[in-house]
Amino acid sequence: MTRVLSGVQPTGMLHLGNYLGAIRQFVGLQNEAECYFCVVNLHALTIPKDPKEVLERTKDVAALYLAVGLDPEKVTLFAQSQVKAHAEASWLLQCVARVGELDRMIQFKEKGKGSESALVGLYTYPVLMAADILLYQADKVPVGEDQKQHLELTRDLAQRFNRDYAEVFTIPEPLIGKVGARIMGLDQPKKKMSKSAESAMNYIAMLDDPKTIEKKLKRAVTDSDNQVRFDVENKPGISNLLSIYSLLSGKSIPELEKQYEGVGYGAFKKDLIEVTVDHLAPIQERYREIRHTDYVDKVLAEGKEKAQVVAEDTLRKMKDAMGIL
Ligand code: AQP
Repeated sequence: MTRVLSGVQPTGMLHLGNYLGAIRQFVGLQNEAECYFCVVNLHALTIPKDPKEVLERTKDVAALYLAVGLDPEKVTLFAQSQVKAHAEASWLLQCVARVGELDRMIQFKEKGKGSESALVGLYTYPVLMAADILLYQADKVPVGEDQKQHLELTRDLAQRFNRDYAEVFTIPEPLIGKVGARIMGLDQPKKKMSKSAESAMNYIAMLDDPKTIEKKLKRAVTDSDNQVRFDVENKPGISNLLSIYSLLSGKSIPELEKQYEGVGYGAFKKDLIEVTVDHLAPIQERYREIRHTDYVDKVLAEGKEKAQVVAEDTLRKMKDAMGIL
């Protein structure tokens, strides 16, 4: 059976980009593959944060995983920090990775901004991500497009390890959707939607209430041409909204273009608000039911036990191959 692994950082409230680019794919995969989904809370430390916030957000993400429909009977859900093999394997892989490779990572350049006070963890984060994936011998990794470069590094490290030490790792492949792999910011449609964006107007959070969704979508940047047409180059704002509408409603983009021909942005946005609110309502309701119960802790504790068995087995093979006691 194909093995799948992916993770989400608890760095803020999950948004439509995380959902449409990654998490929604997880739900379909749970019926056809052996799936491991984690909250990658060690990654959240790469930018300084309030510890209480890291803890609460970790549980938020776990609860959202469950609220969108992941079934712990079918998938293993766990927190990265609770499986110690991740940190250990990351060190071993840091002794396989090259400085030149990490220097080329775009996300480090964007988030570190060349500052001397950027954390070392931010620099080595892609290696920890490689450990997350390789420990589970994952065949497929469903992610948004922004993670493509990190996946390429993971594949390079696995191939190098297999060549220089022993054939330990499965070489994983990214699973990137054709539409939705890069949802753009509502306020800056040429940059990706991001949890850590400066303004909350950048994203629709999964838990935004209907009034907030309405306000954000009404203010979403478009253009003055008033024609609902998909053209990323010249009409990035409306094209992004068309992608979101299409993914949430199941209607194709040409179908939507036809539906809103000659109608203008006002009517289009009004319907998009309704589609978004209706799509998120049951997820939000389920989230509120479970977030503050011990169900979430129980799922994570059971997931940890299952994940540990697989991760420890790979870690032992890595250590044997490297001559580490
Ligand atoms: N805008 C996006 N469009 C499509 N997919 C996206 N993902 C993130 N942003 C978009 C995908 O969501 C998954 C979880 O992402 P993450 O939380 O692990 O980290 P990230 O990619 O760095 O996401 P953010 O929202 O931008 O977080 P911050 O601001 O904390 O860095 C991944 O599969 C990602 O590709």
